[in-house]
Amino acid sequence: MTVFITGATEGIGFELMRIFAAQGHDLILVARNESKLNAIQQEYGKQARITYYASDLSHPDNAEFIYHDLQYRKVCVDIAINNAGFGTSGSYTQTDWEKEHDMLKLNMVTLAYFTKMFARDMKARGHGRIMNVASTAAFEPVPYMAAYGATKAFVLSLSQSINFELKGSGVTVTTLCPGVTESKFHQRADTQNTLQKAKILPQATAREVAEYGYKMLMRGKPLAIHKFGNRFSVFMERFLPRSIVLRLASSTTH
Ligand SMILES: NC(=O)c1ccc[n+]([C@@H]2O[C@H](COP(=O)([O-])OP(=O)(O)OC[C@H]3O[C@@H](n4cnc5c(N)ncnc54)[C@H](OP(=O)(O)O)[C@@H]3O)[C@@H](O)[C@H]2O)c1
Repeated sequence: MTVFITGATEGIGFELMRIFAAQGHDLILVARNESKLNAIQQEYGKQARITYYASDLSHPDNAEFIYHDLQYRKVCVDIAINNAGFGTSGSYTQTDWEKEHDMLKLNMVTLAYFTKMFARDMKARGHGRIMNVASTAAFEPVPYMAAYGATKAFVLSLSQSINFELKGSGVTVTTLCPGVTESKFHQRADTQNTLQKAKILPQATAREVAEYGYKMLMRGKPLAIHKFGNRFSVFMERFLPRSIVLRLASSTTH
C-alpha cells in the first residue's frame, strides 16, 4: 500500500509515519524541513520505501505540483493523511495577517485540494482511505484562536460531507479530532499558556493520538474524537447556550 502523509516530521504526523513504516508500506511524506525528512528516510528507510517532498504547503501551488508529480510517476495513493497544519493565537485585530493567511491556505485550501484529487482517484479505483486532521476546536467558536478554530470547523464540515457523498464507493474520509496534544504545535501557535490553563482538559501524547487515528482510519470511521473526556465535552456543548460555550472556550485561550 502507498500512504501519503503531510506534516510527517513532527508530532502526530511523525507518529503516524512510524506506524505505517513499521508495517512496511510505501510512504510519501511532505513537510518543509528537508534535513528532517532526510533523517527520517535514513532511519526508517530500512522498514519502508520512503519518498519525500520538502515543500511549503502554505502555497497551494506546491500541493498541485506534488499531486501532478505523483501522477506523472504513476504513483497510486491508497491512504492519504492531511495532517499538516498550524495555529495562530491572540486577539483577531492584533494577529499577523501574513501568518494567518498562510494558515488559512495550509489548513483549508491545500487540504481541500488533496482531498478532492485523491478522493477522485480512489473513487475511480473503488477503494481508498483519507484522514483529515481537524481538532476538538472544530466544534465551537474559539475566541483568541478565532481563525484557527474556523479552519478546523471547515475541515470537519468538508470531510464529513465528502464522506457522506462517497458512501458505497469503497472510499472513506475520517475526520480526526485531537484534543490538547503535546507537540511543537503549541510553540508555533504561541499557546504554551493555553496548555497550562487547559490542564483540566484531557491531554494526550502525539503517539496516543496517532494510534487512535490509525485505528479509526483503517476501520473507515467518519469521525474520530480522541479521548472520552473530549467526546463528552463535544456532546455536552450541544445543550449549552452559545454564550456559555464561548466563555468556556475563551477561558482556556486567554
Ligand atoms: N497539538 C495539538 O494540541 C493539536 C490539537 C488538535 C489538532 N491538532 C492538529 O494536528 C495536526 C498536527 O499537529 P501537531 O500537533 O502534530 O503539530 P506539529 O508537531 O507542529 O507538527 C506539524 C507538522 O506539519 C508540518 N508543517 C507545518 N507547516 C507546514 C507547511 N507550511 N507545509 C508543509 N508542512 C508543514 C511540520 O513540519 P515542518 O515544520 O518541517 O514543515 C510538522 O511535520 C495539525 O493539523 C494541528 O492543527 C493539533
